[in-house]
Amino acid sequence: MSVKEDVLLFLENNKGNYISGSDISIKLNVSRNAVWKAINSLKLEGYEIDSVKNRGYMLSENNFILSSQSIKKYLKVPNLEVEVFKTIDSTNSYLKKKAENGATEGSVVISEEQTKGRGRLGKSFYSPSDSGIYLSILLKPKLHAMKALYITTCAAVAISQAIDTISNSSSTIKWVNDIFIDNRKVCGILTEASFDLEGGGINYAILGIGLNLTMPSNGFPSDIKNIAGTIFNEKNLINDYKNKIIAKILNNFFYYYPNIEKKEFLEEYRNRSLILNKEIYLLRGDSKEEALALDIDDEFRLKVKKKDDTIEYISSGEVSIRKKSDYI
Ligand code: BTN
Repeated sequence: MSVKEDVLLFLENNKGNYISGSDISIKLNVSRNAVWKAINSLKLEGYEIDSVKNRGYMLSENNFILSSQSIKKYLKVPNLEVEVFKTIDSTNSYLKKKAENGATEGSVVISEEQTKGRGRLGKSFYSPSDSGIYLSILLKPKLHAMKALYITTCAAVAISQAIDTISNSSSTIKWVNDIFIDNRKVCGILTEASFDLEGGGINYAILGIGLNLTMPSNGFPSDIKNIAGTIFNEKNLINDYKNKIIAKILNNFFYYYPNIEKKEFLEEYRNRSLILNKEIYLLRGDSKEEALALDIDDEFRLKVKKKDDTIEYISSGEVSIRKKSDYI
C-alpha cells in the first residue's frame, strides 16, 4: 500500500476523531511531510478531511467515498486485491489485460463510471458516473468449461442476496444473469472466460457486474428507460451504501465460490427466479418464440414447453416475459 492508502485506512479506522500528524507518522513509520502530502492529495480527491491546529486531522463521519479501504472495512474475504477507479473504459477489459499479464485470482477492479461498458451479446452497458458501480472479479476456477455457467449463476444468487440485505428489497433473478426489482433490471452480469481447449478447463474467468444503484441525474436513456430500475431510492438509501453493497457482494460470492462445483446456490437460484411458470419469449438471434418456463435443471438450463408442446432445455440466449401489452 502507498503512504496515501495507509493514511486513508488510518483515518477510516478513526473516522470522526482527530489524530495528530505526528501520531499518524509514528504509527505508519513515515515522515510528517509524507503524511501532510498524503492528506492534501486525499483532500484533492474529494475526501472531507478536517485539519485543526494542535488537534490534527479528522475524516468526516459523513465521508462515504468509494475506496478500497472502506470496502475492506466490511470485507470478510482475505486476499482480495481491490483497485478502485473514478472512470475507466471497461472494468472487464482492464482486468482481462491484467489477467493476460499474470494477475492472480481475487483481483477486483471497481469503477464509478465506464466509458465503454460492455453487456452481453455484444451490446453496450450504460455506465454513467453519478449513479452506478461497475466491477469485475478475476477468477481461476478448477471447473470444466461445460460448467462455466456456474460462475454467472453463483454470482446472480450472491448479488441478489446482497441487494436484499443492504437495500431491504426483494430482488429476483431473470434467467440467466439479470437481477430485477419490481420488474425492472437493476443489475447485469457479464462473465467472460479464457478456455483451455486441450484440457477442457478454464484458464481464467472475468466476472463483470454492473449495478444501477440510484437514478442517473438525467434519468435512463430512452432505449432502456422502460426496463431499467435502481436498487436504492429516497426511502431505502443508507450511509455508505456503495462500499457496503460491494463488500456484501464479494462476501456472498466468495462464500459459495470455494465449493462452486457443489452448487450450494442452486436451490436459491430457482427460488429467486422471476420467470418460472411464466409465459415467455425465447429470443435467439432474430427469432422470437413463445414458450412456458417450466423449470431450471441441475445445470442451470431453462426447461421450457413450446407452443407445439415439445420440451426444450435452453442453456444460452435471452428470454423475456410475455405480458398483454409489453414485455420485460
Ligand atoms: C448485461 O446486462 O448485458 C451485462 C452487463 C454487464 C456489465 C458489467 S459492468 C462491469 C463489467 N465491465 C463491463 O464492461 N461489463 C461488465
